[in-house]
Amino acid sequence: MSKPEWFNELARNRRSVFPDQFEAGKRINDDIIKQILINATWAPNHGKTEPWRFTVFTGDGLKKLAAFQSELYKQEAGENFKEATYIKLQQNPLKASHIIAIGMKRTTTKNIPEAEDIAAVACAVQNIYLSVSAYGLGGYLTTGGITYKEKAKSFFGLGDEDKLFGFFYIGHIAVPSAGATRQPLEERVKWITE
Ligand SMILES: Cc1cc2nc3c(=O)[nH]c(=O)nc-3n(C[C@H](O)[C@H](O)[C@H](O)COP(=O)(O)O)c2cc1C
Repeated sequence: MSKPEWFNELARNRRSVFPDQFEAGKRINDDIIKQILINATWAPNHGKTEPWRFTVFTGDGLKKLAAFQSELYKQEAGENFKEATYIKLQQNPLKASHIIAIGMKRTTTKNIPEAEDIAAVACAVQNIYLSVSAYGLGGYLTTGGITYKEKAKSFFGLGDEDKLFGFFYIGHIAVPSAGATRQPLEERVKWITE
């Protein structure tokens, strides 16, 4: 397969794989996770800001994340509390091999708009998605649970100006994702040729 063919295949067949599709309890070698994170850091970023910050949970670390996020959810949910969400936040992390909490450190030393810090971290997330797929592993980004809770930030080493972007779950695939769809290209692209 030529390099473009290989990349077309990778980009188009990358799929989100969710925790219930993982082989629960099967751990990925940490060296692979490090390679995936190195790829993440090769994402484009304006002004060499490298605004991404990663916190990796694995082994008993997954239990720490599970306890932290479920308890914070309980504290913050008020009358919107749902028992099913609480249980999911407790149990889902334990189905993964590794979870990478994705943080964005806001660039304050240069005149970089926040949208560009966000865009750079989003590029890093896509590198993670593609790398996970290239290794034949499964994973997905979730922005549910405590992602947007101000009180969550310090647990991941983030300050008030920074953002928690979400959680990237990674595991071995037990059940592959079913077919995905995209809208026809023509509906999303306009060509200007003259
Ligand atoms: C910014 C962002 C946030 C996401 N948050 C969630 C989420 O909270 N829960 C979820 O099930 N999937 C989440 N996803 C994954 C999407 O559900 C998934 O990308 C979408 O269904 C398309 O499937 P694909 O990734 O296989 O192409 C998120 C994806 C992105 C890019």
